[in-house]
Amino acid sequence: MKKTVLAFSRITPAMAERLQQDFNVIVPNPKLGDVAAQFNEALPEAHGLIGVGRKLGRAQLEGAARLEVVSSVSVGYDNYDLDYFNERGIALTNTPDVLTESTADLGFALVMGCARRVAELDAWTKAGQWQATVGPAQFGSDVHGKTLGIVGMGNIGAAIARRGRLGFNMQVVYSGNNRKPALEQELGAQFRSLEQLLAEADFVCLVVPLSQATRKLIGARELKLMKPSAFLVNVSRGPVVDEAALVEALQSGTIRGAGLDVYEKEPLADSPLFTLPNALTLPHVGSATAETREAMANRAIDNLRAALLGERPRDLVNPQVWKN
Ligand code: DGY
Repeated sequence: MKKTVLAFSRITPAMAERLQQDFNVIVPNPKLGDVAAQFNEALPEAHGLIGVGRKLGRAQLEGAARLEVVSSVSVGYDNYDLDYFNERGIALTNTPDVLTESTADLGFALVMGCARRVAELDAWTKAGQWQATVGPAQFGSDVHGKTLGIVGMGNIGAAIARRGRLGFNMQVVYSGNNRKPALEQELGAQFRSLEQLLAEADFVCLVVPLSQATRKLIGARELKLMKPSAFLVNVSRGPVVDEAALVEALQSGTIRGAGLDVYEKEPLADSPLFTLPNALTLPHVGSATAETREAMANRAIDNLRAALLGERPRDLVNPQVWKN
């Protein structure tokens, strides 16, 4: 008998079609009423869950008696209560690697966008304010030749660093738990403590996973260590930054600007950030290109399919639950 897969976020028809080759597939449909109610009703039947952007732990999964695997269509897995998954023996998989370059592109777009005030000046132009040659009030900051600080030199951090070093002749400094000798060799990257990096970098890019150790890693104290001319870029997770402290730093000129893709609470609504011209705000689109989202979907399906067919999935986050 086919096992049952339940989607916990929107999935494309192509994904559903691929999954249907091996499984019964249930995709809650807003046209049929309350999506959460449809999900809860189907949960006891589900052997596998697939999706993104939803907190899943004891409260949500207690009724999922048959659940073997949750396949997240994301690299980050801070939405899942891993202790609970381990206690239940539920496998968790994610989609690393396939989104590295796209997310780095977006990280660098934020560097460029906030330094050269791209969105702000676009709005200014469209509002008919371009009535004479621009002056200092519209000037931005250079990117080339500046110092790029990478907080969290994982795959995405390294890909952003490469763009800065090889494309824009930037000096790269980085902080994190481990030195990366190969990247020091390749990019001339120099290791710093977080405090040193904050004081030195013209662009501070946050690329760390969210954990107890990185929650509110950047607060009022850290923002004050940055140069008043520096920019903060966050493509990691919103709670890595104390958002109220960031708003205050942007309002008071403690730092020059910020390029943000992630927020403490998403979707971002009614935020003081909306009133700040020096905050460039994107709606969590680091990996959101057609090509990358398709690659992530396929990787998530491969992982789910493997786990439900009894093969060890490629991207197992909690290998201790895999008994075969
Ligand atoms: C990821 O893959 O973790 C992206 O941030 C989407 O959540």
